Order: sequence, then structure tokens, then C-alpha cells
Amino acid sequence: MTQHEKRAEDSWWKNAVGYQIYPRSFKDSNADGIGDIDGIRQKLPYLKDLGVDFLWLNPIYKSPNVDNGYDISDYEDIQEEFGTLDEFKEFLKEAHGYGIKVIMDLVVNHTSDQHPWFLESKQSKDNPYRDYYLWEDATPERLPNDWQSFFGGSTWTYDETTKQVYFHVFAKEQPDLNWKNAKMREEIYDMIRWWLDFGIDGFRLDAISHIQKEPWDFKIKDNPWAPFMNVSGIETYMEELRAIFKEYNIMTVGEASGVTSRKAAFWTGEDDGYIDMIFELEHNHRMGLPGEEVGDPLGFKKTIARWQKDLSNQGWNALYIENHDNPRSVSVWGDNSPKSSKALATAYMLLRGTPFIYQGQEIGMTNYPFSSIEEVDAKDSHSQYNGLLEEGKSVEEALKITTHWTRDHSRTPMQWDDSEGSGFTEGTPWLAINPNKAEINVKSEEQEKLSTLNYYKQLIHLRKTTSVLINGTFELLLSKHPQVFAYLRKDEEAEVFVLVNLSKDAVQIDLPTRVSSEKWQEVLTNDHTKKVEKRMSLSGFEAHVYMKGAK
Ligand code: GLC
Ligand code: CA
Repeated sequence: MTQHEKRAEDSWWKNAVGYQIYPRSFKDSNADGIGDIDGIRQKLPYLKDLGVDFLWLNPIYKSPNVDNGYDISDYEDIQEEFGTLDEFKEFLKEAHGYGIKVIMDLVVNHTSDQHPWFLESKQSKDNPYRDYYLWEDATPERLPNDWQSFFGGSTWTYDETTKQVYFHVFAKEQPDLNWKNAKMREEIYDMIRWWLDFGIDGFRLDAISHIQKEPWDFKIKDNPWAPFMNVSGIETYMEELRAIFKEYNIMTVGEASGVTSRKAAFWTGEDDGYIDMIFELEHNHRMGLPGEEVGDPLGFKKTIARWQKDLSNQGWNALYIENHDNPRSVSVWGDNSPKSSKALATAYMLLRGTPFIYQGQEIGMTNYPFSSIEEVDAKDSHSQYNGLLEEGKSVEEALKITTHWTRDHSRTPMQWDDSEGSGFTEGTPWLAINPNKAEINVKSEEQEKLSTLNYYKQLIHLRKTTSVLINGTFELLLSKHPQVFAYLRKDEEAEVFVLVNLSKDAVQIDLPTRVSSEKWQEVLTNDHTKKVEKRMSLSGFEAHVYMKGAK
């Protein structure tokens, strides 16, 4: 194998399409209302047919489920409701048999407060595990500082037993690990190796940019999260992680808020980057009042274009428009129509980077019509709701603001068919199923030629069979247009022109002559076929992909 071939094989993920599975809501195999590993296994043929190359599973480890699996009490075992390690092994084997790789969530900023390390750590100040977490002298009235946690409230929680406080950037049931402790790090690294030896193909690194904190007397200026977002000194830990990742031919993608697009080029650089790619969290620009916000297309495209540009010589992007932490893209950016689903898909899947599809996105699943807070499960939403009530908002207002952007929109069960349990469960689902399962479901979309699902399949196929879409350059066109997202992907042999109206309104555009005068061939559209011309009119959410040269 030449050096070049070796590198291409090592970077298999550059030519891959990923699919994110939220195990709780994907497929329930034993009628307890909760999705599970065996359910995912049963759906492997569907995933193969869709054309995806790897799966990212949200956490399936042992957990008291305060934050749906992101509070881990045993890293090397599976949550009972999801199945057993043996079932996971079988699933992994079958997935590999289909040529589908599997990456797991790696949650190492914090554990559950029920993790044996924390239970020990709480016992006494001289417990050998004390220093695995971040403890400080304080009283409930006088905390070490006034930093706020992501889920609301102080980052400090007082513990009676030893009369000290411990630190947590998320919920109080998710104490942060002390990365300064080398012994703790060694245990985490052993666990990582344990999973890699088990045969998984990589990790999505949860909240990884938070593992290093500023000194407790750091003064916050404007950004409330600055004290624990990509704080200097994190490099040492990332280098240690990189050393392990490099031993294995895996892929790694980091959730790394606070890592700017410039820094991301280094973080994900080919030779000495820490990880292979980053999920940026910046493109989610919103506009409008709380409770009525919608996505801002201009902000979206500017951010995306900046990340494309800053990672053009070095580094790699992870591309996504949905995940388990955000509402459904078709409801936020689109108008809930299949046409807008397809437009959004066209806009992001042909960018430079590795695209991820979040379960249900490929059939155009929409937001859920929440009508009471009891229907919401997400912890952060409940604390937001309570906060709003405390501020004096009415129940209706608080509900509207909270449910408008709650992450539970994306966590409702997968809509496989139009039956009562939507093909997800034979029992009572843990979170309500969207009533629009009657129209939006896999079964009917498989039969309908022009469905969102079939459009996704075409797009995935195009993406994987067109080499310019892997390494070709990115150039933004019509950069100031508030609604239209247009770009070129180019290499020596071929060129792709992507044209998408990101708004529900009809628009007009004037293309540069150097683009309109080329001989383009249309390869995909969610509307009628249209020729490229200098002046073009596009209907709401109209999208086209054109190409010239060899595939
Ligand atoms: C990440 C996850 C989110 C979780 C948090 C705490 O942001 O995506 O779902 O709540 O980390 O682990
Ligand atoms: Ca189940």
C-alpha cells in the first residue's frame, strides 16, 4: 500500500455519510416503550438501504437517566433498558457485516453522581477518589464564584457529608471530573481502550471543550461560559487523547463549543489534529422573540461559509442540521413541508465535510405540538420553564417559550408507519408520538417516489459517487443574498453548483456570468427541472444541484 492509499484508507470517514441514532426513540423491540439495541439491530437493513456508512449512538451506558444517558454510572456496561453487552456485541457484528461502522458517545467531562467514583469521592476529604472531582471549601451562602451551569443555577452544589461544594457545568447530578488528576485520566484512557478493543469504530466526544476550567477567581466579562470553554491548558489532555486515538484506525468527532473556526483547523488538522472533525454549534442563528424564533438563513450561510473557508487547507467539518439537542430543522428553518426538508438537505449535505443525518430527519419529521409541560421530559426545559414562572411569566407564556425550542422535539419516537405505536413500539412510548405519523412515516415514504426519504437516498448516493464533493474546494456565491444559499464545489475534473432558496418566499437572483455561462447539467432538484441562467426565479424552498465534468 502506498503512503497515499494508506492515508485514504485511514480517513475513510471523509467519504462517508453518518446517521445519528437516539436509542431511546429509534425502535423498541420488547414493548416496554423504550427503544433498545435489539431494535437498532432489526433496522440495519433499513439503514443499509438508506446508504449510510456509519452510525453514531447517543449514550447507551448504565445511567440513572437524569440527562438521558449523559450521566453515566458505569462506562463499561449497558443500560438495562437498552439491552446487554452481548446484545451490543451481536449488533456490532451485524452492523459490520452490512459494512456499517458504529461510533459511540464518549462522555468524559462528567459522570453521574451515582458513579462509584463519585460515591467514594463524597465519603470524606481524604478518600482516594476525592480528587477525581472538583471540591472546594464553601457554604451554600458563600460559593467559590457565581458561575452558572448550562442547565440553569449555580455550577456548585453543597454536600452535607463533608461540608464542601462540588463543581458541575451541567446538572448537579453530573459532577465534573477533575482532569488535572493523572490517575483519573489513566482510568478514563483505559476505558477508552477497552471500548476500542471491543471493536467500535470511533467516538463522538461529548462536551469535550469543557474539561479544562479557569481558576475559580476568573472574572466573567461577557460570555458566561468562558470559564469552562476551550480554556488554555486543554491541549495537554487533547494530546493524550490523540495518542490513543492514533493507535486505532477510528474516527472521532468532537462537540467542542468555544473552539473557533480558526482553531478548529488546528484541532482537526490531518497530521497533528486532536480529533478528525468538529460539530460547530454556531450556525444555529435564531431571529424573533422568545417563543417565536425561527432560523436566520443569512446567519446560517455566513457561519457555514466561514467554517468551510477556515477549514479549507487544514482540518475537516462535521456537517449537520439536526441532532438530539435541537428542534426539528424542517420546523425551525423550513415550513414543515417535504419541499423544505429537501431544500435543507440539499443545502448542507454537499458541503465539504462529513454529513450526519439525525434519525427521522430523512423522512422530514417535524416538531411536536406540546400542550403541557408534563409532555416534556428534557431536564433543561423543565428548569427553563420553572425559571420563567419564577420571573412572573404565565403558564401559557412559559410553556410557549420553553416548548418552542425544546430539544424534546427531536426526541419523539421514530415514525416507522402509521400504526398506533408508529412501528416504534407495541407498548406505551416513553415520549409521545407525533400525531402526524399518519402522513410522515417510513413505510409510506418508501412507496412514494417523490418522498423526502427517496430524495435523501438520491442525495446520499450523489454525495458518495461524486469525488469532487469530497475534496473539491468550496466557494460561496451570492454571499449577501438574505435567502438564497448558493455555492460551487470544484476540483480539476469537475464542478458542482448547489442552489437553494432557504425561504418560503419566491426570490430572484442574478448569477455571475462566469457561472451562468457554463454548460451545466442538472443532477437533482426538489422542483421542476430548470436551466441555469443569468437571472433566475426560484419558488419557496426550491433547490437544484448542477454539475459539469467527470463525476
Ligand atoms: C452535550 C449533549 C447533551 C447533554 C450534554 C451533557 O451537550 O449533546 O445532550 O445534555 O452534553 O452531557
Ligand atoms: Ca425496549
